[in-house]
Amino acid sequence: MFDSLISINDLSTDEIKKLFALAADLKARPQDFRNVLEGRMFGFIFEKPSTRTWVSFQAGIFAMGGGVIYLGPEDIQLGVREEVRDVARVLNRYLAGVVMRTFSHWTITEFRDYFDKPVINGLSDKEHPCQALADYMTLYEKIPAEKDPVLAFVGDGNNVLHSLILVAAKLGAKIRYATPKKYQPDAKIVRTAREIAKKTGAVIEGFFDPARAVAGADAIYTDVWVSMGEEAMRKKKLKDFQGMQVNRELVAKARKNVLIMHCLPAHRGEEITDSVMESKNCIVFDETENRLHIQKAVLLHLFNEGAIQ
Ligand code: CP
Ligand code: NVA
Repeated sequence: MFDSLISINDLSTDEIKKLFALAADLKARPQDFRNVLEGRMFGFIFEKPSTRTWVSFQAGIFAMGGGVIYLGPEDIQLGVREEVRDVARVLNRYLAGVVMRTFSHWTITEFRDYFDKPVINGLSDKEHPCQALADYMTLYEKIPAEKDPVLAFVGDGNNVLHSLILVAAKLGAKIRYATPKKYQPDAKIVRTAREIAKKTGAVIEGFFDPARAVAGADAIYTDVWVSMGEEAMRKKKLKDFQGMQVNRELVAKARKNVLIMHCLPAHRGEEITDSVMESKNCIVFDETENRLHIQKAVLLHLFNEGAIQ
């Protein structure tokens, strides 16, 4: 059973399915889980801004009776004012768990090595596990897993795509992605996912042509071209991602009524057009909502042993 959530790889197939079921329960009957985190204080160590991650975790923890302390870049200055391992050992004496949003994935694993309690990855350069869990929960609410929906990701091969590929691998799902050549997902993560896929029957296919990735797809997913921390690369990335926009022409190449997904924030006019964002099959705010429920399920499991056994 997982005791932290730093990578999707921390979860087994069975655990992911049980988290979906628990999250559905939490969504249907939030009042039944009111006091489960009572007396527990959580730290949020965030090196980057956040709307969804910070607010959904905070709302979820309050709803379950816990408390939160936000530690932004100016407060702790991880690795600058003090070494990561020292901060971890200090916070270990005060907090029940932490959610971390860092530039480097290493910072989270280093912190975990010196912190005895649960650590949750709220986005690093490598992964965004809470997002990908909420996304697959949402996709399966719309198209049940038994129907084997094809998810096509078009955009940058980084954190969000990595976690989506790993969830797909674990669940035996079909995922295709199209990225520019220079922005393919991390080869090691793809290798790991393909290894897992051998056992689960997942189908993971990479393309450079977005039209090929979306052909016949049930859902199209995109993410910003310029991620947090990449602002200096903005001009170059906008150029490198030409032809990767999720617009009406691309959507027309997928199945009729294809679902539109995005982790948000969206940069309209860049990776997605305004008209696609506003189209009737766009389910981005359902994904947003499910961040709350799936994260509550993760917390419930981590702090009430056996919640998903
Ligand atoms: N999708 C997501 O993680 O949003 P925030 O950056 O606003 O937390
Ligand atoms: N890839 C984006 C995801 C934001 C939720 C970023 O890292 O900024």
